[in-house]
Amino acid sequence: MSRTLWHNARLATLDGEGWGLIEDGALLVEGEHIAWLGEAAQAPRAEHQHDCAGALITPGLIDAHTHLVYAGNRSREFELRLLGASYEQIARGGGGIRSTVAATRAASEEELLALAQARLDALIAEGVTTVEVKSGYGLSLESERTCLRVARRLQGAQVQATCLGAHALAPEFVDRPDDYIGAVCEWLPLLQAEGLVDAVDAFCENIGFTPVQTRRVFEAAQRLGLPVKLHAEQLSDQQGTQLAASFGALSCDHLEHLSAEGVQAMAASGTVAMLLPGAYYFLRETQLPPIEQLRQAGVPMAVATDHNPGTSPTLSPLLMLNMACTCFRLTPEEALRGMTVNAARALGLADRGRLVAGLRADFCLWDAQHPSELAYYFGRNPLRQRVRGGL
Ligand code: NIG
Ligand code: FE
Repeated sequence: MSRTLWHNARLATLDGEGWGLIEDGALLVEGEHIAWLGEAAQAPRAEHQHDCAGALITPGLIDAHTHLVYAGNRSREFELRLLGASYEQIARGGGGIRSTVAATRAASEEELLALAQARLDALIAEGVTTVEVKSGYGLSLESERTCLRVARRLQGAQVQATCLGAHALAPEFVDRPDDYIGAVCEWLPLLQAEGLVDAVDAFCENIGFTPVQTRRVFEAAQRLGLPVKLHAEQLSDQQGTQLAASFGALSCDHLEHLSAEGVQAMAASGTVAMLLPGAYYFLRETQLPPIEQLRQAGVPMAVATDHNPGTSPTLSPLLMLNMACTCFRLTPEEALRGMTVNAARALGLADRGRLVAGLRADFCLWDAQHPSELAYYFGRNPLRQRVRGGL
């Protein structure tokens, strides 16, 4: 197996407490994995050498909550919201998610793939090596299958595919949400059998599904051995977090209206708090997630783009690091952990997220002196090179 020594670099390993900085560092890659890392003076011999010219190396970024597969956009809805309509009002009026569902159903698989690949390319250009991609704009078996297949066909990053059939009520099921949930539960084994599902998500909200309906989706996932996660307490406190925690959810996401009980439930179940500053910002939300309570309770916090056409049309993970600090007051270290170590945990992937011997050689070379600069700048992309699986 070929061995390459990446030297003349400062490493931010994010292993253990703090940044895990190694000043004059080097990293030995063997095949797809990190074989060794430490001070350059102690580096083992390798047949290939790569001079990093003083770059900062961090783990590759992991965007653990995205809705990359859809057609159309919602710029008109953005305008309506600025003129005074609320996100809920637009959704109840048949717009919102439902309008993206119409556009997505009208698009071909190849069109959806081209759109999603272009979005993923933008994330990759800022250092993303692993991404989670949800369905949820199909809302029929056929269309959800197409969206998940598109997720599987994306190139350039490892993709974890999540079935979000319970995102909104499909138009065929108006006034029959329980029947729709029954249908979603029937789709899951079919989609799983086709190898299209890594996890199951739902939107538990007064404009989404009730905790009782969400539970049915989680039970169906549990029967299949699929991990669950939840869009929880985004617009109101539905106590979806407690429900998700009782199913050992990987993450609960958004959490602006999370209660103290919800925080405790997450702490007990080891569920990751997925913070989505893009949606908070774009909805002009003023209710902050209870960051200090999450911190005090030791709940791991992750940060993601939540890229979607309605609430977070951003394709900049670096901007999300900045907003996690400016909007949510995470420290730059917490923000970067949120898109590396804790994002890996939120996807149940133990083989990445830190620079540690034995883990995957997924890392980024940045034009930066110190890792806090990744959250400090906004609108600047200091990525020099992205390495995934050693290449
Ligand atoms: O993560 N809240 C539900 N789902 C998405 C938004 C979907 C949409 O508006 O298209 C979110 O914010
Ligand atoms: Fe989302």
